[in-house]
Amino acid sequence: MSSQVQKLKVGIIGGTGYTGAELLRLLVQHSMAEVIAVASRSEAGTKVSDLYPNLRGHLDLSFVEPKIEAFTECDIVFSATPNGIAMQHAPDLLARGIKLIDLAADFRLQDAAAWRHWYGEPHACSELLSEAVYGLPELNRESIRNANLVANPGCYPTATTLGFLPLIRESLIDHNNLIADVKSGVSGAGRGAKVANLFTEVSDSFKAYGVSAHRHHPEITQTLTAVAKQAVTLTFIPHLVPILRGIHATLYADISAETSLESLQSLFEATYAEEPFVDVLPLGSHPETRSVKGSNLCRIALHQATGSNKLVVLSVIDNLTKGAAGQAIQNMNLMFGLDESTGLNCPAQLP
Ligand SMILES: NC(=O)c1ccc[n+]([C@@H]2O[C@H](COP(=O)([O-])OP(=O)(O)OC[C@H]3O[C@@H](n4cnc5c(N)ncnc54)[C@H](OP(=O)(O)O)[C@@H]3O)[C@@H](O)[C@H]2O)c1
Repeated sequence: MSSQVQKLKVGIIGGTGYTGAELLRLLVQHSMAEVIAVASRSEAGTKVSDLYPNLRGHLDLSFVEPKIEAFTECDIVFSATPNGIAMQHAPDLLARGIKLIDLAADFRLQDAAAWRHWYGEPHACSELLSEAVYGLPELNRESIRNANLVANPGCYPTATTLGFLPLIRESLIDHNNLIADVKSGVSGAGRGAKVANLFTEVSDSFKAYGVSAHRHHPEITQTLTAVAKQAVTLTFIPHLVPILRGIHATLYADISAETSLESLQSLFEATYAEEPFVDVLPLGSHPETRSVKGSNLCRIALHQATGSNKLVVLSVIDNLTKGAAGQAIQNMNLMFGLDESTGLNCPAQLP
């Protein structure tokens, strides 16, 4: 930025996808940011508002090819692309002094061998992995402020990690038996046409998938292990539910007989008291995904099942907002010294 009053110049690679569209929806009403370039290979030349009519009157831009020349005037670029794309652009963007937030997984795993194992190809710029900051503000706020490269967390990892974080930090649960039973709406799979995501395939049905191995498992365990400073054992089971947006995480952890539910409620309330986007509900509440739809909030509630030593944490987010674009903008705000909530204060859409 050349002056304090000048708006941040923002570019988006992958502007036709669902997270790209959510970035646009939020950024056109951001008082300190201006979108100056939106890329798509398939829609280059098309007006953005012709593809996304909700943006008509808010954004007068056409999609451009995702070439570096389109982004040289940007202060920051969001890469809202499939895995393996941002790592191709990152060295060039960073060398030009342009900050990068990747909404995909390219910079989430710190170990290049782990990336290769889970994502099936060698990392294109593993030398940048140590520089990348995992963009969960509730955990890494100060590092994000100084980062040039942010790995925006996955949607399942955001809901799961925020639900376990206070417990892991204080060592109040058995680290060897964490269970995350998590459900996602269909927009979590992106906008690309796939038979499995057709209305006729997903509506009026409910299924688990990726039970024995899912790419978000190593991401969550990497974070929880670092916080716990010891290994954690997590059973992570994702499900697909026939809703458009929303993640609902039901998390289970063993607590000792001496640990009261009320003391854990106090811990959660204290941990998140100053967090603008984590809302700890009264004990025994049941947060609904619709209570966060289109908002950047994570709502959390604690329970203990009768006759059991299992603490149950319910954690809901919108996968496209706190789970992707909203959190990315929260990170952008931090990286440029803006109020963290700028452009993100809208309440959820309900009904
Ligand atoms: N959906 C979610 O809830 C969610 C949540 C958290 C994180 N994420 C992650 O965020 C990323 C984007 O997700 P999404 O759901 O928005 O995906 P999407 O709907 O499938 O959109 C992908 C976008 O990337 C562009 N693209 C594809 N290949 C490209 C390439 N080789 N070079 C440049 N652009 C390319 C596509 O446009 P063109 O093909 O026209 O170029 C499209 O705009 C993914 O990595 C996803 O895992 C998604």
